[in-house]
Amino acid sequence: MSADNRRMTPEQLRSRWWFDNPEHPGTTALCIERYMNYGLTLEELKSGKPIIGIAQSGSDLTPCNRHHIDLVKRVKDGIRAAGGVPFEFPLHPIHENVRRPTAALDRNLAYLGLVEVLHGYPLDGVVLTTGCDKTTPACLMAAATVNIPAIVLSGGPMLNGWRGTQERVGSGTIIWELRKRLAAGDIGYEEFLSRATDSAPSVGHCNTMGTASTMNSMAEALGMSLPGSAMIPAPYKERSMVAYQTGTRIVDMVWEDLRPLDIITREACENAIVVCSALGGSSNAPVHINAIARHAGIELTNDDWQRLGHEIPLLANVMPAGIYLSEEFHRAGGVPAVLSELIKAGRLHGDVPTVNGKTLAENTAGRETLDEDIIRRYDNPLVGEAGFINLKGNLFDSALMKTSVIASDFRKRFLSQADDLDAFEGKVAVFDGSEDYHARIDDPSLEIDANTILIMRGAGPIGHPGSAEVVNMQPPEALIRQGIESLPCIGDGRQSGTSGSPSILNAAPEAAVGGGLALLETGDRIRIDLKRGEANLLVDDAELAKRRDALESRGGYIYPVDQTPWQEIQRGMVEQLDRGMTLGPATKYRDVARQ
Ligand code: FES
Ligand code: MG
Repeated sequence: MSADNRRMTPEQLRSRWWFDNPEHPGTTALCIERYMNYGLTLEELKSGKPIIGIAQSGSDLTPCNRHHIDLVKRVKDGIRAAGGVPFEFPLHPIHENVRRPTAALDRNLAYLGLVEVLHGYPLDGVVLTTGCDKTTPACLMAAATVNIPAIVLSGGPMLNGWRGTQERVGSGTIIWELRKRLAAGDIGYEEFLSRATDSAPSVGHCNTMGTASTMNSMAEALGMSLPGSAMIPAPYKERSMVAYQTGTRIVDMVWEDLRPLDIITREACENAIVVCSALGGSSNAPVHINAIARHAGIELTNDDWQRLGHEIPLLANVMPAGIYLSEEFHRAGGVPAVLSELIKAGRLHGDVPTVNGKTLAENTAGRETLDEDIIRRYDNPLVGEAGFINLKGNLFDSALMKTSVIASDFRKRFLSQADDLDAFEGKVAVFDGSEDYHARIDDPSLEIDANTILIMRGAGPIGHPGSAEVVNMQPPEALIRQGIESLPCIGDGRQSGTSGSPSILNAAPEAAVGGGLALLETGDRIRIDLKRGEANLLVDDAELAKRRDALESRGGYIYPVDQTPWQEIQRGMVEQLDRGMTLGPATKYRDVARQ
């Protein structure tokens, strides 16, 4: 690094307060004697070297990120080569598939824990190891709150999953497909399990454009990770190389005093929205990006997602919206090739800074797609308008529909039955949480047919603490056997980013806080108008008022009791999904490293 870029002197390093503080000699003594007890030298601690934290998200409990246990050895090599001293510490584990009741409950818990570590320990900068879905937003939210120099290192996706040599098997997506086959009786339990494991052939996180790949791509689009690093498959040699480069770079970022709030700006968040659409990214991304923005002091709303993202075309031909997987996406040019197309089309703020000290436009210049089927040119997309629609009406103030996954048979069956091609009506079958759904979906008395809309409520941040990924409900087995493989679903919960289900999700306010979904009854008719952005229950106001009175006299919508202390604490302060499901009181803290 040239001396011109250096804005910090060794004396100004934050870690000096702990490791070289003549005004508080007791503090210095207590800190250095204990870190020397495992072999660090006085020279490493007290001679003005940047102390770099490594937030370790991998563990035996978190297989998607476990690869980081090895990868951080190269990060440490890089940190030492650049003159820093690495300090690795654990992030609260978050494993998407396994954590009960939901991994989303841990995003805010990991955020809180990381804020306290970054604020309270002698760290001048931090490498944030990310991968599985919520690890990335938890880290970025904390980076925004604390605002010490920070850089994201994704662990990378798994290699492609295969069945034989021709059939790609994508993480999560295969589960949603196979459970229909299981329900229809085409395959048995053992084959279901065997085929599902085909999707996970190596270390790494989900190899589809689920929430993990989306959020790591968002980190790169925001400028918070090295260019081209998000989607390098976990086992590739380039993954270890970029780990080393991430280590060297964070040391320079400390000397340059380049901080997260210099990078996570409104323009960067707008870029993330546009890139998410072009990737066919997860419907969890608006929740997480809105949360990161709120912690950075930026008001980003689901209206912004529709305004900036809806008309963006789908460029990444990756499951669940496309047919390829992330290994091929990386080989075709990865995130830089998508950014390059979007910058050429004038859709991104190219002049925003990134962690390597260059602008987004500088980083992506000449990074063209290497395979125009896998990463499409802007004027030859897979889908013309691939972003989210933000629906409103008497059912909710905001709910998102991911348009990139609306399949043509679904469009034919539903969108053409009403008076125009962008609207549909149907009677509803209402379920209160996923257990109720599983217990009753095949109940003939619900009279579910090909024109029914399935409703899932009680699945929001308060109704199901953390908000459940359960809105993508499959039709009754009898309908699947007739070839009806999907019905429209609406809910106040989320759905997996690996699902291609055409659902209306993340409804806010949720039923548990009195949102309109709480008033629905099985058999009601609702109308969805995608062009107008409306979703309404077709029941007159007098009837709605009567139902609201009855709900209130029952004490409101009933949801399960808290099972753990954290569930109670989070329920007491969590905001709705459209506001990022952040902890309300936490969003006022900013730049706390300086305090
Ligand atoms: Fe961890 Fe998908 S389950 S990345
Ligand atoms: Mg998920």
